[in-house]
Amino acid sequence: MRTTLSIILPLAGALVAALALAGCVPEEPPTGAEDFAAFCSGCHGAGGKGDGPLAGDLDNRPADLTRLARRNGGDFPKLRVMAKIWGYTGGRDGAMVMPNFGPLLDSQLVPYDAGDGIESPTPLRLVQLAEYIESLQ
Ligand code: HEC
Repeated sequence: MRTTLSIILPLAGALVAALALAGCVPEEPPTGAEDFAAFCSGCHGAGGKGDGPLAGDLDNRPADLTRLARRNGGDFPKLRVMAKIWGYTGGRDGAMVMPNFGPLLDSQLVPYDAGDGIESPTPLRLVQLAEYIESLQ
């Protein structure tokens, strides 16, 4: 038994490595915090307060993402946040300062109720980002 295992285990490891090289094993998607640091903190700041290094160069001030719930009567506006990130809603006064992140965040779909009572297939990375921003409130 032990000899069989000692032959099979390395073989299984080699197979997984080969599949990963061939791109068959999906990579672990980045976490919400990692996506936030990579795509959002430049404008919105590492802590989401709207004070990133690029903020000063923009005509429109990046929103303070830590106050979204407070500014919405205590309810985190999940659906609005997700629509904004995906690019469904433009900027204030039609000025699209904030890029459209939909294509970047395309990922495995998970059923998710963003507050409208309907579980819709939603890209995992978008869900994770929304939940990360919710955790900043
Ligand atoms: C190039 C700078 C820039 C980047 C990068 C950026 N944003 Fe923004 N964002 C803005 C600006 C400016 C506004 C306010 C004006 C507007 O609504 O377009 C804004 C507004 C928002 C709002 C709307 C807040 C509200 O009041 O409803 C959300 C949510 C948001 N950003 C989330 C994100 C997330 C999440 C990311 C990363 C995936 C991101 N932003 C990346 C500039 C940026």
